[in-house]
Amino acid sequence: MCVTTVLGIESSCDETAAAVVRGDARIGRGEILSNIVFDQMDLHAAYGGVVPEIAARAHAEKLDIAVSRALDEAKVALDAVDAIAVTVGPGLIGGLISAVACAQGLALGSGKPLVPVNHLEGHALTPRLTDGLAYPYLMLLVSGGHCLFLIVRGPGDHERIGTTIDDAPGEAFDKTAKMLDLGIPGGPKVEAKAMGGDAGRFALPRPLMDRPGCDVSFSGLKTAVRMVRDGLIAESGMSEQDVADLCAGFQAASRDVLVGKSRRAMARFREEFPAVDAPGFAVAGGVAANTVLRAGLKDMTQGEGFAFTAPPLALCTDNGAMIAWAGLERFEAGLTGDMVPKPRFPIASNPMTSIWSGKRGAKV
Ligand code: KG4
Ligand code: ZN
Repeated sequence: MCVTTVLGIESSCDETAAAVVRGDARIGRGEILSNIVFDQMDLHAAYGGVVPEIAARAHAEKLDIAVSRALDEAKVALDAVDAIAVTVGPGLIGGLISAVACAQGLALGSGKPLVPVNHLEGHALTPRLTDGLAYPYLMLLVSGGHCLFLIVRGPGDHERIGTTIDDAPGEAFDKTAKMLDLGIPGGPKVEAKAMGGDAGRFALPRPLMDRPGCDVSFSGLKTAVRMVRDGLIAESGMSEQDVADLCAGFQAASRDVLVGKSRRAMARFREEFPAVDAPGFAVAGGVAANTVLRAGLKDMTQGEGFAFTAPPLALCTDNGAMIAWAGLERFEAGLTGDMVPKPRFPIASNPMTSIWSGKRGAKV
C-alpha cells in the first residue's frame, strides 16, 4: 500500500479551486479530505459569458484563500503533503499563469515536488478517484470546451477515438441559453427549463448520426434552435411554454447524439480490447451533470455490457480534487512534465481526425 497525499490547484476557466486528496493510485477510490471551489458566476453574469480578464483577476485574488482553506479543512499542513499538483492547461492563460505561480511559490517555500496536470486528464481520471474504475476504460468527456471519446489506458496514456468537429456540447448548451435569454451558467438553466417542456414538439436534427465513426457536431443543432426561435418570435413572440419545449427538444437531441455515438465508441473499444470483461464506460466533464444525458447513457450502457460510471455532480464540473487525483497518479507513476502554462494542451497523443476543424473554445 502506497498512500500519497496531494494538494491540487485548478483555475483554468472560471472556478478557483483547491483540494487535498489522499489515496493509492493502484487501488483508486481516493479520500477527498477537502474540496474548495469558488465560482465566478456573479462576476460574469452581466456579460453573458466568461470574460478572460475578469476571470484572471478573480483567480489571482482567490487562489491563496482557496489553498489555505483546503489545507485547513483537510487538517493537513503543507509540510505533510507529498506533492503539489496544478493545472497547466488547457484553459484561459490568465488563470493558468496565476495557478502555476501560486504552486511554484508553495513548492519553493515547502520544498515539495510539483506535478503539472492536464485539466482534461483531471476529468478523465475522476472515475478512478470516485469508483476505482480499472484501466482500460472508455470515457466520454463532455464540457464547455470539449467533447472527447477517449480510451483511457493509464495516466498520460489516452487514445482519442472521437471528438467534435465544431462546438462542444457545453458550448451549445450555453449558446442555447443565451439565445433564449436564460442567463448563465447555460447548461443548468436549459436543463431546468426543459423539465416542463415537450421534447417532441420541434423536429431538431441529430447531426452526424448518418455518418460512421464517433465524431460529433453541435453547430447545426444550435442553428436549428435559432431558426425555431426566430420563427416563433416572428409568429407571435415566445411564450414560457415555447422556451421550455425548445430547451427540452435541444436537450433530447444532444442526448440522442451523445448516446448514439457512445454506442459506436463501445464497439470500437471492443475491437481494441476484446478480452476485457464488462469494461467501464465513464462520463465526466461539466455536461455530465445533465441528468437527462446521464439517464440516457446509463440505459444504453446496460444493453451493451459495459459498466456505467458517472462521478457525483460536484465532481463533474471543474474542481481541485480531480487535479489532485490526476497529480497523485502521475506522481506515483513518476511522470513529469513542464510547468509552462499551455492554453492549448491536447490530452491524447494521436493526431486529430481529418474532419476536425479546430473550433476555438476556451478549453481547446
Ligand atoms: O467541465 P466544466 O465545468 O468546464 C470546462 O472545462 O468547460 O464544464 C462547464 C460546461 C458549461 O458549458 C456548462 O453549461 C455545462 O458544462 N454544464 C451543463 C450542466 N451543468 C454544467 N450542461 C448541461 N446540463 C447541465 N446540468
Ligand atoms: Zn473542465
